[in-house]
Amino acid sequence: MWSTFIVILCFFLVIHLWQNRTFYRLVWQMPGPSLWFFNKNFSGFNRGIPRGNIFFRIIKECLMNYKTPLRCWIGTTFYIILEEPEDIKTVLNSQHCLNHPFTYEFVKPFFGNGLSTISTPQWNVHRKLLNSTFNTKIFKSYLPIFNKESKVLVSRLEELCNKKELTDISLYTKAVTYDTVYHTTLNREINTQKNQNFHLLECSNKVAAMCGERIFNALYYWDSIYHRTSHYKELKKNEQIIREPTIKGYETTGNALAYCILMLGMFPEHQGKMYEEIKSVMLDESQDIQWEDLGKCNYIERFIKEILRLFPSAPLTSRKSTETIQLGKYIVPANTNFLLPLFLLHRDKEFWGPTAEDFDPDRFLPENVKSIHPYAYLPFSGGPRICPGIKYAHMILKTILIRTVRKFKFRTDLKMADLEFEFDITLNIMNKHMVYVEKEIIIIN
Ligand code: HEM
Repeated sequence: MWSTFIVILCFFLVIHLWQNRTFYRLVWQMPGPSLWFFNKNFSGFNRGIPRGNIFFRIIKECLMNYKTPLRCWIGTTFYIILEEPEDIKTVLNSQHCLNHPFTYEFVKPFFGNGLSTISTPQWNVHRKLLNSTFNTKIFKSYLPIFNKESKVLVSRLEELCNKKELTDISLYTKAVTYDTVYHTTLNREINTQKNQNFHLLECSNKVAAMCGERIFNALYYWDSIYHRTSHYKELKKNEQIIREPTIKGYETTGNALAYCILMLGMFPEHQGKMYEEIKSVMLDESQDIQWEDLGKCNYIERFIKEILRLFPSAPLTSRKSTETIQLGKYIVPANTNFLLPLFLLHRDKEFWGPTAEDFDPDRFLPENVKSIHPYAYLPFSGGPRICPGIKYAHMILKTILIRTVRKFKFRTDLKMADLEFEFDITLNIMNKHMVYVEKEIIIIN
């Protein structure tokens, strides 16, 4: 029976290769592994390892062995992996690479039919509309909401101080960003923080994780198979609890905030520097944080940038070409999927030097920024499809950090080397963001 199955499979493979011979002739000129590589990485030895991690391991191994742009089959999907900033710049800015690969269909239960999951030409119309509303004037008008929601977070953290135990802070950080984004974009309050409705967020996290699992599991690609699995039933169950399609940006921002607090706990010297800056900028604690105050927090700005370098909330992004494009000396045909592994790009020693893995906000001092290639640092992606929420995210992160670092001291037992990453739609850690929240005022060394 197996031999018949293999013969049929080979038959379809030959037909596929023949029909797409021009495509493969062009892309086969690029460096890349053989099919043997595919088998090795998808063997039974990987049982128990999250599939997103296997996916990243394959990309990392390819990058260690071949120059980019490199071609690679991951599961049943053919990708070109990019890590050279100039190639990334070409693809992200090409009018022929504005769409995403078909796997973006699988994140619809999480993102809904929003901007990030639609393709051109509808995308052009929606993006123009969004760009006209996402501007500094509008963001400034959100500041009272940012202040209000961050005060609620402070009262929640006060309760944690009394408990004196390790807490997964990401539930609190995602609750504050959920409430804020909900309030500012839908003009309604949902009060996840006040009601401690963490169950909603846990279901939302679960839906995000399950969408990621589907992307990384080729067996789930066909609806006719997937809809018969227990995975699908579980996804539907959680989707019904969230009810409304998830608002965009809360998860990435809440995730970044969780890493901010974890790093403050890990590096008291940075917490001390941040505390000093806040004290010098905000003289009156009882006042709301103003737009001008945010502009003065240069250290916090660098700190956030470094967080997003080492822990980009979206660890990879991708594009699909609709026309032939020129990439250096290669001609890349239409319908090619491109993978941009942002997490690996941000830690590549070639672009970040020997201390690439170290946490150092001063990399983003004005005199040091000059040596960073703009397309080697892409936490918000780039080109026309760049994240429209950059300014919004920085504003809310700064507001919350000012309010919390002024009041609390964070501590963690985790060290950098302990962090075990889990690659999903967002970048998670298996250890969780476990911190103690304490009330002491910080004294710098
Ligand atoms: C630290 C926080 C955030 C990070 C790291 C982040 C990162 C990203 C990334 C990597 C993309 C994908 C772009 C691509 O396709 O290559 C994206 C898209 C998007 N983000 Fe963000 N984001 C953040 C916060 C936000 C916020 C706060 C909002 C809105 C309030 C937002 C709204 C969007 C939208 C609407 C898109 C889709 C853009 C499009 O396809 O045209 N993001 N974001």
